[in-house]
Amino acid sequence: MAEKSRMKDIVAQLNEHNYRYYVLDEPTISDKEYDQVYDELISLEEELSIVLEDSPSRRVGGDTLKKFATHKHIAPLLSLDKCKTFEELRAWDNRVKKLISGTNDKLDYVVEYKFDGLTINLTYDDGKLIQAATRGNGTVGEEVLEQVKTIKTVPLTINYKHKIEVQGECLMRLSVLEKYNEAAREPLKNARNGAAGAIRNLDPKITAKRNLSAFCYNVGFSEHQNFKTHLAMLDFLRESMFYVNEHITQCLDIDEVITAIEKMEEKVGERDYLIDGIVIKVNNVSLRKILGSTHKFPRWAMAYKFEAKEVTTKLENIVWQVGRTGKLTPLAILEPTDIGGVTVSRATLNNWEDINRKKVKIGCDVWLRRSNDVIPEITGCADEDCVETMQNVKPVNCPACGSKVFSKGAHIFCSNPLSCKPQLVARISHFASRDAMNIEGLSEKTIQQLNEALGLDGVADLYELEYENLIGLDRFGEKKAQNIIDAIEASKNCSLSTFIYGLGIPNVGKKTASDLAKQCNTLEDIKKAQFEELIEISDIGDIVAKSIVDFFNDETVAKSIDKLISKGVNPVNEQASEIKSFFSGKTVVVTGTLVKYDRREIKSLLEKLGATVASSVSKNTDFLLAGENAGSKLKKAEKIIEGNKKSKLQIIDEDKLEKLIF
Ligand code: IVH
Repeated sequence: MAEKSRMKDIVAQLNEHNYRYYVLDEPTISDKEYDQVYDELISLEEELSIVLEDSPSRRVGGDTLKKFATHKHIAPLLSLDKCKTFEELRAWDNRVKKLISGTNDKLDYVVEYKFDGLTINLTYDDGKLIQAATRGNGTVGEEVLEQVKTIKTVPLTINYKHKIEVQGECLMRLSVLEKYNEAAREPLKNARNGAAGAIRNLDPKITAKRNLSAFCYNVGFSEHQNFKTHLAMLDFLRESMFYVNEHITQCLDIDEVITAIEKMEEKVGERDYLIDGIVIKVNNVSLRKILGSTHKFPRWAMAYKFEAKEVTTKLENIVWQVGRTGKLTPLAILEPTDIGGVTVSRATLNNWEDINRKKVKIGCDVWLRRSNDVIPEITGCADEDCVETMQNVKPVNCPACGSKVFSKGAHIFCSNPLSCKPQLVARISHFASRDAMNIEGLSEKTIQQLNEALGLDGVADLYELEYENLIGLDRFGEKKAQNIIDAIEASKNCSLSTFIYGLGIPNVGKKTASDLAKQCNTLEDIKKAQFEELIEISDIGDIVAKSIVDFFNDETVAKSIDKLISKGVNPVNEQASEIKSFFSGKTVVVTGTLVKYDRREIKSLLEKLGATVASSVSKNTDFLLAGENAGSKLKKAEKIIEGNKKSKLQIIDEDKLEKLIF
């Protein structure tokens, strides 16, 4: 049947593109082209009433489950022994050497990241993913097959046809978390909770929305496959299209291990996912067999954990802060305490429900955690007695303006958006901020001062300010006053997307603002856009679309925008003004430290010239702009050029870029 073979063909094509996009980070077709082929697949599946085992349409999330069934792992998922210092690591190396003395096999180690997500165990049989389970207690976990199928880096089918269990870690990339939180009504606290919450959600469609990834690092059980080394096992996983992390180092002795760890620790900021340590594993499987396991963990592996960062301290007070949207956020005032070398005296509590769920009360001792990445977080109460005796008080009035508050979902809001000072100040600060109208010199403190001294009470009032108004104010010299006036004037010529972002529409971050500007031609079109038109834009869902419509329907907003335009603010759609240039249609990656230019300015200039500025180097990259101390991206580009002398990829520096642009 021609249609069935076309279907098989499309599924293979789409899986290949998914692999290139999610695992290799080297896409070869655009999202639009992918969507076209995908739509054809869906039509064929409907027409033939067949869905192939490895069809990407199986990843959208099936029906909501009633509860999670339990799952017994074939091979238990062991824990890892932990250490925190290099001395302890050397002691482990000595123990290993002692236990294997007398054997001829050579000892070497493999060093890899310890991912901080949710462990999953994947079962394949006859080449198909037949089950996926959480770790649970290591022997029995919970079945989460439908949830795991939504993870694009987990293959639905593999070439290996016997039964096999593959272990890995499910993660939410930090960039994905950031994008998710920009539009989320209830932002996720960190990527670990984001991943764990998504997998343990009974509705797989919600899991699918979180856009998770998974690295695989171990074969726990396999019917007919014996690996001689860990590296050979990783090769097998890679060949079977699993996503294996690229930062894996083979070390011949413990000194090399320590150097490798130090290098990996240095790269903290470069990673797009969380880790909480490094795992060191004996490479040779026959040595592993000699070393064996205790009842809890194997003797052939060790986790070098980054400093434990959980302490207890006293919760002295909870103060409520009012943000741009009028939301009241509780801030915990703590007895100052040292956590991982940093003194912490404040921590965020998310909302009233969060306070109650964690059972924390003013006056009691609380657990405070600072993981490698995230801001300090209170995780719970450390003093059960307090819970019985103390009471927190839910705010009735706004702590800033005294107006009544109201609850919406888990949050509390001030009912007075017009004259509540912190809201005004935060709105103007957001409007003036670097990523919005970029009005230099207007810090939150200055805006507060202008609000108090001059009655500045909306973004449009900024454009009525005159030099004479500023010069008399406290801490304002001639230069500062003039600079601010000039910066306000300069901001009148702005791009439509930064203007939209600056307006501070609830749930609209930079990405959505830019999508809106791209899809709608003018500010007028955005203002008039109907809910139905907005949800057609990819990445804009019901909540965001409703926020946009409600925002522009508000009379105060409409007046404020009219006033901005009448004062000369001129948002220009950057898409429309795109110039045909040498860079039109080219893909550029920027890496390293730039000395002549600001990185953001260069990126936006390149985009104006029609280039796509990508974050990673691939065969499709045309230019790599390499600044000082360029690292892995430069190496990758050099490798691509070395591997293919005809490659279009060129490595350029700032001088060369100047010549090409100007
Ligand atoms: S190997 C027994 N490698 O850390 C050895 N585990 O504290 C099998 N984990 O739940 C595990 N990154 O799932 C291994 N690169 C890595 C890992 C890793 C994270 C998890 C593992 C386990 C936990 C142990």
